[in-house]
Amino acid sequence: MRTVNDAPALRAAVRAWKREGASVGFVPTLGNLHAGHHSLVDLARKHADRVVASVFVNPTQFAAGEDFERYPRTPAADSAGLAEHACDLLFAPDVETVYPFGPQHSLSIHVPQVTEVLEGAHRPGHFDGVATVVAKLFALVAPDLAVFGQKDWQQLLVVRRLVRELAFPLEIVAGPIVRDDDGLALFSRNRYLDVHQRTRAPELPATLEWMGESFVEGHARAAIEGAAVRRLERAGFNPDYAVVRRAEDLAAPAEDELSGLMALVAAKLGDTRLIDNLAFD
Ligand code: PAF
Repeated sequence: MRTVNDAPALRAAVRAWKREGASVGFVPTLGNLHAGHHSLVDLARKHADRVVASVFVNPTQFAAGEDFERYPRTPAADSAGLAEHACDLLFAPDVETVYPFGPQHSLSIHVPQVTEVLEGAHRPGHFDGVATVVAKLFALVAPDLAVFGQKDWQQLLVVRRLVRELAFPLEIVAGPIVRDDDGLALFSRNRYLDVHQRTRAPELPATLEWMGESFVEGHARAAIEGAAVRRLERAGFNPDYAVVRRAEDLAAPAEDELSGLMALVAAKLGDTRLIDNLAFD
């Protein structure tokens, strides 16, 4: 696996592959890679001849007071893991390459509607930072397809809309959530949990399962959402939301709408904010 840090070297590599007729898959990441990220690389490998992954801790998607500074940076382990998963090229740009005028003076892309609820409401500006960096990375890498994990479901919807509105000539492939044996979705921020919190954390996916089952049994949506919040509080979480939404646009479903639904939760355990989701019919 080759590692490049600048745009000309990246472009030269991708152009050479394209001249040979190879398709290029792309996996953007913030680094601190785990089995969830590796599964996205494996998925990209299934769909494309060559795979590029990026590691870039994007400053514009962290709000003031969030964990930008302490976000785990593990370049050696990231590089080894990507090489093991047959990634062809690691793009690890510095801030100037992605933000030539500085992050404060960058253009900013705002995706409306789907960003106004849930994560967008609780992390103002977060999705502007995500949409902006993803558009920049797509322009730099020029892939034929890009793979995003379903754990960040709302992010996936934002990226799909970005691709459609800006007519990026690429396909978005969604990778399933990878979970630990006890059900907790793999997530770089899980490493912030202490031993006690880690034993409690599986209550998050258990609550999602319970929400799905309760909905299928015919309980009212509002009652399920309220009970899910209380259940999480009893387990020591500080929930931001626990909701049942239409998966395709995160709108509240009509009363007779029973398919294409998803439960989504976000909750803090100590200082660590976890999110998760589960699709059900
Ligand atoms: O999901 C992530 O890791 C990030 O939000 C992304 C898509 C790499 C943009 O920085």
